[in-house]
Amino acid sequence: MIIILLALLTAYLLGSIPTALWVGRRFFGLADIREHGSGNAGATNTFRVLGPKAGSVVLLIDALKGFIAAYCLPAGLLAQGAIPAEHVLYYKLACGVLAIVGHIYPVFAQFRGGKGVATVLGMMLGVAPGAVGVCLLVFVAMLLLFRYVSLASMTAGVTFALLQLLPEFRPAQPFMVWVGFVLAALLIYTHRANIGRLRAGTESRVPLFGRK
Ligand code: G3P
Repeated sequence: MIIILLALLTAYLLGSIPTALWVGRRFFGLADIREHGSGNAGATNTFRVLGPKAGSVVLLIDALKGFIAAYCLPAGLLAQGAIPAEHVLYYKLACGVLAIVGHIYPVFAQFRGGKGVATVLGMMLGVAPGAVGVCLLVFVAMLLLFRYVSLASMTAGVTFALLQLLPEFRPAQPFMVWVGFVLAALLIYTHRANIGRLRAGTESRVPLFGRK
């Protein structure tokens, strides 16, 4: 029981690592990335404020947080004989969700973190990797079409939920459909300020192919 609680706590603490904030401070002398750009402590705002190298590092680490929580921690519990094989999916979901909650509400950064996109992506890779390729394609297509990362992120999240309706794309249990829709709703909730800006026409676009 203790080892299970430790794994759950580790998942939250892992998610709580405020990558964007710490990368900005350590390598760019930026006191708080949340005072710049969109104000979000996430990969997109790191790309925007600190450039592609820093943004890529933040994206990778934030996605790894979700993957390690949703894949490696439950695998460790299984290897230790702490959980039965038929319960692994439940622990993948619990650890993955705790990492996402940690990312959005990090104990190491006054509970003001990112919007969860990269960490959700890492969790998806650990739980339902079959759906990730399609979600990434949708993300890229939306980004190329509209150049809003927020819109592309939310659409990819909703795509993940819809894909869980199809047995080919989900782990066996039909309740994954509910998990998918809860994650999509969470992403929409964390993007509520972006939705306001999209509606007002003030959301910042990615300057792709020289288009501002
Ligand atoms: O990484 C979250 C992304 O979907 C939006 O980020 O900084 O444009 O609010 P941002």
